[in-house]
Amino acid sequence: SAGFVGYKLESELLGFKPRSVFSDLTSQFSLTGSQMEEIATHFFMEMRRGLQGIESSIRMLPSYVTEIPTSREKGVYYALDLGGTNFRVSRFTFDGMGSASITDERKYTVPDSKMTGTAEELFDFLAECVASLDTSADDASTGGRFYGFTFSFPTQQTAIDRGTLISWTKGFNTTGVVDHDVVELLRDAFKRRGFEGDITALVNDTVGTLISAAYTDPRTHIGVILGTGTNAAYREKVENILKLPKEIRDRGGEMIINTEWGNFGSNGKMLPSTDVDREIDDNSRNKGQQLLEKMISGMYLGEMVRLCLVRMYDSGEIWSEPGVEVKADLRKPNSFLSRYLSDIEYDMSEQLHIVHRVEKTFGVEGSTLEDRIKLKEICGMIIQRAANLTACAIAACIRQIGSQDSDLVVGIDGSVFEHHPSFRQRLSAGLGELAVQCNVILAKDGSGQGAALISHGALIAREKLTS
Ligand code: GLC
Repeated sequence: SAGFVGYKLESELLGFKPRSVFSDLTSQFSLTGSQMEEIATHFFMEMRRGLQGIESSIRMLPSYVTEIPTSREKGVYYALDLGGTNFRVSRFTFDGMGSASITDERKYTVPDSKMTGTAEELFDFLAECVASLDTSADDASTGGRFYGFTFSFPTQQTAIDRGTLISWTKGFNTTGVVDHDVVELLRDAFKRRGFEGDITALVNDTVGTLISAAYTDPRTHIGVILGTGTNAAYREKVENILKLPKEIRDRGGEMIINTEWGNFGSNGKMLPSTDVDREIDDNSRNKGQQLLEKMISGMYLGEMVRLCLVRMYDSGEIWSEPGVEVKADLRKPNSFLSRYLSDIEYDMSEQLHIVHRVEKTFGVEGSTLEDRIKLKEICGMIIQRAANLTACAIAACIRQIGSQDSDLVVGIDGSVFEHHPSFRQRLSAGLGELAVQCNVILAKDGSGQGAALISHGALIAREKLTS
């Protein structure tokens, strides 16, 4: 039959060689257009379930942010930004005419011991960082210090300044925080250190990014983070958020939803996954959770490459020529850094000099050109899948918003988007594949500014209530 002839020809072309690990990996990691459509559809349905409060891998958390900035915001507001491994304390001054400036900013690295210790240790550390800000530049007109607390983890909010941690992500595992109000925890730590400060808003980084991007361009409807973790927030009609109490829904208008899309697929078979994905998940601090995040975000990209390299090395498909020295312990977790993917992608030279340099930093000497080409292709394949999956997720959000407007702006922040040289292009191609129209922009460092703006808005709303 024709099928048989086809088979024979194909195997002859392959020279009857067994399939290589490399070609297996490239086919496992690639997504066809119809797979992408399917993922986007599942994603959309999970979003709908999340809004209704039905069991869903996408939590769709109400942010209690119901307004986008007017650009008339004025005064001095602080942002306390706990994201991945950094804690940033910034003072923002808004001039009332749509312009903002940072008048002080400090960045601290959160030591791994605080990420896995007790709540008190973590929050005392945060309070100590806040205490180091000088008070001389405080704005007397706002009558005190007001903080927007960017806490980039899934929290169940019941008000703009109240929310309990649902579960840790991105390698955090601090005890005594899950199911506790994180604003309370921070307030208590402030008190222990003997200073005051009013935390007027609790904000996810995606919500902050969206608000900050909307401050400069009101056409912004979606804020995305592609950094250590990945997530998005978007503007939803309150009437669609069926899980909110009726009295809130009846008010109408909009509310920003923190989707927590990084958890997509954690409840079933909606994400095509490879054995590399399973290994990443098995070795993580939050097994079975954040499965989409583990395929997209900076915390895992390098590790994915490393696991592919181990498989290829073990089958003699890379760095196996005589003269190549592999000094690196390929089995050491997280030894292949995510930023290497960006470095490698930049390399357009004929001999792949940069790839060679990265290999050396990693601990491999004297590779052949063929080795370097393979390494580059592995990196490309992994970032391609990340971009395609991001496109599926954005497509689903736009479908939910129901916009046909090609002017709709998606503001994206995070190292993967900002620093990977081809991510943006690959994402656009993916969106094109799904026939999605939108404007993707870099919304740099928005999470803090957004939190400061939200803190301002919350204060105004509070004053209205009490006057
Ligand atoms: C993780 C967190 C989420 C955050 C994202 C980006 O997915 O769960 O809240 O927005 O990382 O930092």
